[in-house]
Order: sequence, then C-alpha cells, then structure tokens
Amino acid sequence: MSPLADVWGHARTLVEHAGIVRYVLVMRTGNDVFTALNAICTHEGCIVSGIDGAVFVCPCHGSRYDHTGAVVRGPAPAALPRLTTAFSGDILTVRLS
Ligand code: FES
Repeated sequence: MSPLADVWGHARTLVEHAGIVRYVLVMRTGNDVFTALNAICTHEGCIVSGIDGAVFVCPCHGSRYDHTGAVVRGPAPAALPRLTTAFSGDILTVRLS
C-alpha cells in the first residue's frame, strides 16, 4: 500500500532530472489534497527527513515544520517552499519550480 493512501500519510521523495536532484516531502492532507514541500531546511540546508505525527523534523538542529511548510519551531528562519500539486485520476503531479 502506498504511504500516501491515507490522509496524513507522507512520503519522502527524491527526484532527479537532467542531473539535478531534488528532495521533496509529500503529505496527503485530504482525500484529494496533497502538499509538497522542498525538503531542504531553511536553516543550514540539511535534508528534512524526520516526521513526528504531521510535523516534519530536520535532523540537524531540530527545526520543525507543519504540513504547509510553516516553521513550528526554529532555528529555521523561514518556511519550506511549497510546490504546486495536482491530483486527478489517482495521479499526483508535483511541479518542481
Ligand atoms: S539545518 Fe535544519 S535545523 Fe539546522
């Protein structure tokens, strides 16, 4: 079963295109609603890889971000950038920008 099958399910993804690697956090926040976030911590650039309930956690200095990317606890100075998503016909599209 997909880790995104249920609401509040989440996945860490790695996207590689034309030699560029992007780390993306994806969370299902409603039946047909997903959030995708750039996983690079806005503090010092670690990959945000932890999860605590619906909160994403940076392993380096403990910054925490909610499912919208907003900072719940620092030292991160800014939110994780959100990526545009679309969900149709059981296909989730994440636009890298
Ligand atoms: S790099 Fe993420 S909290 Fe410092």
